Amino acid sequence: MNTPTHTPVLLDECLDALAPVLSDDNSVVVDGTLGLGGHSEAILNRFAHATVVGIDRDTAALRLANERLSVFGPRFIGVHSTYDHIAEALATANRTSANGILLDLGISSMQIDESDRGFAYAVDAPLDMRMDQTTGQTAADILREYDEGNLIRIFRDFGEEKLAPRYARAIVAERRESPIVRSEHLVRILNDATPYALKNSGHPAKRVFQALRIEVNGELSILRLAIDNALSALAVGGRLLVLSYHSLEDRIVKVAFAAASTSTAPHSLPVVPVALRAGYRLVFSGARNASADEISRNSRAASVKFRAIERLETAA
Ligand SMILES: C[S@@+](CC[C@H](N)C(=O)[O-])C[C@H]1O[C@@H](n2cnc3c(N)ncnc32)[C@H](O)[C@@H]1O
Repeated sequence: MNTPTHTPVLLDECLDALAPVLSDDNSVVVDGTLGLGGHSEAILNRFAHATVVGIDRDTAALRLANERLSVFGPRFIGVHSTYDHIAEALATANRTSANGILLDLGISSMQIDESDRGFAYAVDAPLDMRMDQTTGQTAADILREYDEGNLIRIFRDFGEEKLAPRYARAIVAERRESPIVRSEHLVRILNDATPYALKNSGHPAKRVFQALRIEVNGELSILRLAIDNALSALAVGGRLLVLSYHSLEDRIVKVAFAAASTSTAPHSLPVVPVALRAGYRLVFSGARNASADEISRNSRAASVKFRAIERLETAA
C-alpha cells in the first residue's frame, strides 16, 4: 500500500486563530481529530512551547500519527479515544484545561482510500465503516438488523435522502434473498431502486453511505457532547476551532456556539449581571470557507465550514 496521506484543510487559518492563545510557555492544545497528524505537526512546529494532546478513535491513524510526531518527544501525547473525552485526554498531560481545541470532523483521506473499510461507495469492500475497528456495530450489521422504519429514519435524518422509504424497502426485500455485506451489492440495490428520472441527480449511494457512516459511528450524538465538553474544558481566553464538512455537523456547531455566546439576561435589564453574561464570544461571525485556490489543490476543502469561539472570564 502507498504511504497514506491527508492534506490538512484551512491549516494557516487554524494556526492564525490559535496564535493569540498559545503565547504562554505552558500552552496545551487538544487535537480531537488527530488523523495523520497534519494539523498537530504544524501546531508543534509553529508554537515551539506548546504541547499537543491528540485524540483519535482509529488505531491505525493513531499509530501513524504517533510515528510522525515522535520527533517532538513529550510535547506530543497520543490518546486512543473519542473526542468527547477531552477532560480524560487532558489528564494524560496532567492538565485540567486547554488553551486551544481543534475538531476537524469526519473521516480522513486515508480512511477513504483504505479499500477494506467500506467508506467509499466507488470501491467494492466489506460494509464495515467503523472508524474504531476494535468495537461496535458495522454497516452490514445495521443493514441486517434494523427494521424498515429505522432504516428510513437514518437515511432521512443522517443522509437527508428524499428516497429513504424507497431505498429502505428495497434493502429489506433484498436481504430476505441474500445478506448485504459488500458495498458493491448495496450500490446495486440503490441504483436499481432509483427512478430513471432521478438517475442523473448525483450518485444514488452518496447520501445513504453518509447516513450509514454517521449511524455506525454515532457521529452526531458524540459531536453534541463533544462541543459541550470542549467549551467546559477551555481555559479562560482559550479557543475552540471546528471544521465541519456537511450541513448536519455544521448546524450542531452553529447552534451550540450561538447559545454559548448569547447572554441569558432578559432584554429589559439595563445592566446585565455577571452571572447572566455570555461566557464565550465568537472569534469571527458566521462560518469561513476555503479559498478557490485551496479548493483547486484539495477538493476536500470545498465543503468546509470553519467556526471558532473563545472563552471569556465570565464563563461559568
Ligand atoms: C478529517 S480527519 C483529521 C485529519 C487531521 N486534521 C490531519 O491533518 O491529518 C478526522 C479524524 O478524526 C477521527 N475521528 C472522527 N470522529 C472521531 C471521534 N468522535 N473521536 C475521535 N476521533 C474521531 C477520524 O478517525 C479521523 O482520523
